[in-house]
Amino acid sequence: MVDRNGWARDHPVLTGSLQRPPAAFLEQANVTDSDIYDEFDERWPECWERAADLLAWDQPYETVLEDEDAPFYRWFADGQLNAAENCIDRHLENGRKTHTAIRWEGKHGERETYTYRDLYVATNEFAAALRSLGVDADDVVTIYLPMIPELPIAMLACARIGAPHSVVFAGLSADALATRMDAADSEYLVTCDGYYRRGDAFNQKSKADNARLEVDQDVRTVVVDRLGEEMPHVLGDDEYDYHDLQRKFAGETVDPVSRDAEDMLFLMYTSGTTGEPKGVVHTTGGYLSHVAWTTQAVLDVKPEDTYWCAADIGWITGHSYIVYGPLALGTTTVMYEGTPDYPDRDRLWEIVDRNAVDIFYTAPTAIRAFMKWGESYPNEHDLSSLRLLGTVGEPISPRPWQWYYEHVGNEECPIVDTWWQTETGAVTISTLPGVDEMKPGAAGPGLPGIDVQIVDDDGTEVEAGDSGYLTIAQPWPGMARTLYSGDDRFREEYWERFSNPEENEWRYGSGDAATIDDDGYITVLGRVDDVINVSGRRLGTMEIESAITDVDGVAEAAVVGRSSESNGTDIYAYVSTESGHSVDESGMSEMIERSIETAIGPMAKPKSILFTPELPKTRSGKIMRRLLEAVANGEELGDTSALRNPEIVGEIQAEIREE
Ligand code: WT7
Repeated sequence: MVDRNGWARDHPVLTGSLQRPPAAFLEQANVTDSDIYDEFDERWPECWERAADLLAWDQPYETVLEDEDAPFYRWFADGQLNAAENCIDRHLENGRKTHTAIRWEGKHGERETYTYRDLYVATNEFAAALRSLGVDADDVVTIYLPMIPELPIAMLACARIGAPHSVVFAGLSADALATRMDAADSEYLVTCDGYYRRGDAFNQKSKADNARLEVDQDVRTVVVDRLGEEMPHVLGDDEYDYHDLQRKFAGETVDPVSRDAEDMLFLMYTSGTTGEPKGVVHTTGGYLSHVAWTTQAVLDVKPEDTYWCAADIGWITGHSYIVYGPLALGTTTVMYEGTPDYPDRDRLWEIVDRNAVDIFYTAPTAIRAFMKWGESYPNEHDLSSLRLLGTVGEPISPRPWQWYYEHVGNEECPIVDTWWQTETGAVTISTLPGVDEMKPGAAGPGLPGIDVQIVDDDGTEVEAGDSGYLTIAQPWPGMARTLYSGDDRFREEYWERFSNPEENEWRYGSGDAATIDDDGYITVLGRVDDVINVSGRRLGTMEIESAITDVDGVAEAAVVGRSSESNGTDIYAYVSTESGHSVDESGMSEMIERSIETAIGPMAKPKSILFTPELPKTRSGKIMRRLLEAVANGEELGDTSALRNPEIVGEIQAEIREE
């Protein structure tokens, strides 16, 4: 298989055999006609009208796709719409006012229900409040909130007034928040006093305060009082209490601002191959069309459903499939605060049972944990309301797939294994559950209209059974339009390697490797760039390495992934120190962990830190990360003669064996 250094490496790819989705599901599925693939091929790009027609447009679009300036594509560009109006206002008619929009399950068993009417009121009031603070269309509002209802409310309030939001995952550090606010020139922040995770209360405001000290611009901040007495806080200059604002603007409404389809709906920072996080730009028309369509066609969501994606809104999965997709379709979306194992390991099944959840979407890392905990937890609850199960974020191997199918779905629910990325905006590879057979371990074919090609180093498509780089050869509506830091980096990161601009052939490079089989089903093998996917969270090795080398006494660091049964991948850090061998390793490890926690967040802490006098390097001085990855994984190393210091490899291997 290919990897970032072009080393040949065999990965056994295990997939189960094709299985037909349960008949009862097929009878009621939203999309059941297999001609849909041909239709999309024959009527491309007009086929995408099907997605755009799920939305209400203030100004209907005439052109579907403008591709003159590839790879800077424009979708439905002459149309206008407002995302919040599409997710809320239009559902107030047709008797859906009292239909539940958001069902919130709090950490301590608190429950809140927002009808579409309630959501309308809350987002209007907050939109009015944001305006009063000076937020205008096109001002980037940073949102640094945990999984509380104010998070989607703030996002939709921004969308209402045409202000792009940039949600920063609540678990990220003050430094990470500051970097993102600076990069986006964001002068507005919505945060909270603190929040609960497991049994403990975390102080969020102090992180936000520290970030504000670091950013260059003045920042106006809204603080949601989540913890009350438990986390007292004082408001400083330019700080406003969310509930005060709510009272002040009670009952106010704000007309939704018509946005051009290509106007930015939001920015989402994600890790890339350099130390700088990438601000991925998503638009209003194309993005919303694509998420609405995939929520309907892939997740099979219907307006009367109770739908639950158990992800965090701080990442793209939650943006697309907790907030925008389900609300665009007028369904009930469940959001929960906390973790699957608190207060007990049946937390999720209890929520499914109590809310009669129809559709459930989670990540392989969670499914592997459920499997480890055993079937008694799901068995304690009535899960018979479930109709479809989804997975996203990492490859899922056949065993956990089968466990999910049997013990959660009772063999009555199809599973969709959905491959996509922050940059693709919405699902791009998956079976259509009402059309295609499922294959445990393989995500499926590209969706209709998505031309996935697995190619080798020269950009030639590989034969069935072989592996290569996962690329997409045609644009699609939900795709990222650019990076906030600039078009050049967008082109370099995603388009340069596999495109042929002279021939006007453009191919998006995903950074993943995959195989394709005789049925055209794709199995994703993992990242081939300097990105590590830990429990479905994407982390840049460069970001972690630079946090390590910030520590006094550290000379160099290399971070690699090591396959892990439970997390998919664990982080392994190799560190050389300025003084060679003689260091207090445990003291230094602690400093390294603290530095990573400060720069990124606790989720980026390595599973293991190994000290070595030197890192293996090529003669030109490049650290051989590929080799270190093989060492961490106990793999064959092949030829190490290109190394300047081959002897170091044996020393590192010996140290790992001692571990
Ligand atoms: C990376 C994108 C998009 C939602 C979550 C993560 C991996 C995602 C699958 C899947 C195998 C998957 C890829 C991808 N990934 N879904 N079904 N099978 N791998 O978004 O943080 O942008 O990460 O997640 O490696 O490149 P993200």
